[in-house]
Amino acid sequence: MARTIVVTSGKGGVGKTTVTANLGMHLASKNYRVCMIDMDIGLNNLDVVMNMENRVIYTMLDILENKCRIKEALIQDDYYPLLYLLSSGELNQNLSIQTSQIKGIIQSLQESFDFILIDCPAGIDAGFKRAISCADEAIVVTTPHLSSIRDADKVITILSCYNIYQKRFVINRARGDLMKDKLMIDVYDIGRTLNIDFGGVIPEDDNVLITSSEKIKNHKITMNRAFDILANNIITGEKKLFDCTYKYRGFIGNIKKFLKRTI
Ligand SMILES: Nc1ncnc2c1ncn2[C@@H]1O[C@H](COP(=O)(O)OP(=O)(O)OP(=O)(O)O)[C@@H](O)[C@H]1O
Ligand SMILES: [Mg+2]
Repeated sequence: MARTIVVTSGKGGVGKTTVTANLGMHLASKNYRVCMIDMDIGLNNLDVVMNMENRVIYTMLDILENKCRIKEALIQDDYYPLLYLLSSGELNQNLSIQTSQIKGIIQSLQESFDFILIDCPAGIDAGFKRAISCADEAIVVTTPHLSSIRDADKVITILSCYNIYQKRFVINRARGDLMKDKLMIDVYDIGRTLNIDFGGVIPEDDNVLITSSEKIKNHKITMNRAFDILANNIITGEKKLFDCTYKYRGFIGNIKKFLKRTI
């Protein structure tokens, strides 16, 4: 049976799709069978982030309209053979999407995968509710900014009304230089506010723009270490912390900090 995890946030643009894609790649690199489902119907972009947009022939909406079978809509990643994407497609105004139908799709994927990751739309309306009703675990992504933490907190309250037995938060776009100098809310303060299990910390990193799955091979990218720890935490239930302040310690660290702030 697959573990079905929704990646949600409340606030838009905080990194749900980024976390879904990178977590998917890291889990698949550890030999887990992973299916990523884009439930941001109409504003889907997981295919773009995964560099798979030219390979999308059928989508989840095609399955719902009986235009294809589920297996025909799954796209296998070029680099990780255990990683698949189910894209959601353009919203057809005439098609009413029933949560039970999507649950049916997820149900039939259960035996073929170890993890099903659902990329949730922003906000708390119908699309969000549909996505969270299909999962039994949640990753709540927030940035270290008050508006994002506030929205994450509201989402966590809503999640408790659903059958989600495990909730974890992930802090994305953490700035180690600012956190070290207490100029940004730190991981512990966010943890105390959200009061759910810790999942991981992902630093602000321009390498996020590299779209190919090949990027995971590059161990010099700091983000990779952070996502590796997140993937391990998800697999084992541990709560290991990626310390994004480590680069900014000592003499060299102070220079890096100075340069980062003056650019
Ligand atoms: N750790 C990071 N470092 C730098 N840029 C990041 C990081 N995480 C995400 N981004 C950038 O932030 C933007 C929004 O990320 P993403 O699309 O993953 O957010 P989202 O929560 O899925 O947005 P939406 O709510 O619109 O679906 C993207 O341009 C992405 O490249
Ligand atoms: Mg997104």
